[in-house]
Amino acid sequence: MLYCYFSPCIAATNFLLCATGFLQWQTAQGFQKSACAGQLSSSEQLYGAGLRDSLIGVFMKKKIIVAITGATGSIYGIRLLEMLNNIADVETHLILSPTGALTAHAETDWDKQSILNLADVVHKPKDLGATLSSGSFITHGMVIAPCSMKTLGSIASGVTDNLVARAADVVLKERRRLILMVRETPLNLVHLRNMTTLAEMGAIIAPPVPSYYTRPETIDDIVNQTVGRMLDLLDIPSNSLIKRWEGLQEST
Ligand SMILES: Cc1cc2nc3c(=O)[nH]c(=O)nc-3n(C[C@H](O)[C@H](O)[C@H](O)COP(=O)(O)O)c2cc1C
Repeated sequence: MLYCYFSPCIAATNFLLCATGFLQWQTAQGFQKSACAGQLSSSEQLYGAGLRDSLIGVFMKKKIIVAITGATGSIYGIRLLEMLNNIADVETHLILSPTGALTAHAETDWDKQSILNLADVVHKPKDLGATLSSGSFITHGMVIAPCSMKTLGSIASGVTDNLVARAADVVLKERRRLILMVRETPLNLVHLRNMTTLAEMGAIIAPPVPSYYTRPETIDDIVNQTVGRMLDLLDIPSNSLIKRWEGLQEST
């Protein structure tokens, strides 16, 4: 009789103990993983990476890799990070190449630290031990915005001697989405062949070429429309951000 009265209490206590133990183990794992990646984000410092990972597991946050390389048009990568920042269920992983930082400095008012601050997690371009180096770290996809011809060539030839090329290589081998905002003009035969090679492997070649049917009035209009279309390619809602073609109006 006494046992019957106490057994539900004992079961509940056991369950709580197990749950707490599991959470602590998760937290330790998460901290280990983040320490390997070389950094802890502010939310990780506050709540513990394990707890964060558990919540991601429940709500299925989309981990999007954004790489900014040294082609002109660094504003595309910056704007992409800004737009992704406004989307609740997305976690951004940024790799800023040294020449990407150089071009951003030359072309925009953004300093390097402010760009890095836009991302949830920042990875060093030389950190080949980062989470993004392994296919076991699940990501939703990767956008290289902008993508230089050098990075395009590295990915096309499988020479993965930095984290941008390695992460892209992983995304391709895992059959995840790779979007390359390639930028050069005019294009030589090597550029064109590298694009073909990667398109054949499933990458999306998306040069940042403006559309004029939207009647852009500012550079911002052009950048927003182009980056919004990248969100389309990632299956991330961007309806309020971009203008969509609704067919020719009768007056035209
Ligand atoms: C101001 C500036 C603009 C550049 N623009 C381009 C470009 O539009 N396309 C390109 O392929 N390379 C461009 N480059 C050259 C690349 O930065 C260079 O090939 C570099 O090695 C790319 O390295 P990354 O892909 O690792 O960032 C530019 C370089 C500078 C400094």
